[in-house]
Amino acid sequence: MPEKEKSKKADPQQQSAVKKLIADLNEDLAREYQAIIGYTVYSNVLKGAKWMNIAAELKLHAAQELEHAMILADQIDYLGGMPTATPKLVKLSEKPEDMLQFDLDNETVTIKNYRLRVKQAEAVAHYGLAEQLRTIITQEQNHQHDLATALGIDVPDVFSEGA
Ligand SMILES: [Fe+2]
Ligand SMILES: [Fe+2]
Repeated sequence: MPEKEKSKKADPQQQSAVKKLIADLNEDLAREYQAIIGYTVYSNVLKGAKWMNIAAELKLHAAQELEHAMILADQIDYLGGMPTATPKLVKLSEKPEDMLQFDLDNETVTIKNYRLRVKQAEAVAHYGLAEQLRTIITQEQNHQHDLATALGIDVPDVFSEGA
């Protein structure tokens, strides 16, 4: 095949990287749905003066998670994928500390994944997506910080793992 014709063909390596990116973004979207549901439920069942401030914060988190879900669904569609309609499982507990810990653990997993996703987006030269993911990471770090503060613990370290 002449060189010119060859260059018109889509690079199979690029194609499979985009396919993997779509699949991983759908996992991220399922995690955003999980966060919307978790924050909606937890913010309404946290009772007692001690938890009033964080309950109000969780309501704000829920609204931001919906914005993230909208961005991801739009990007998945743009890349030619079908956005998932299935959330990851939301754990329930009677104890406020448990609920906040579930949220904190999920935020940490979410941040680790988005850090990888930025690299994947840049590897296929999708700089717009990488930019949006960076903005989302900033907000997830605020969520993580709010939860750790409410629990009176340190923010989990995500940087040392190099992801
Ligand atoms: Fe989010
Ligand atoms: Fe979050």
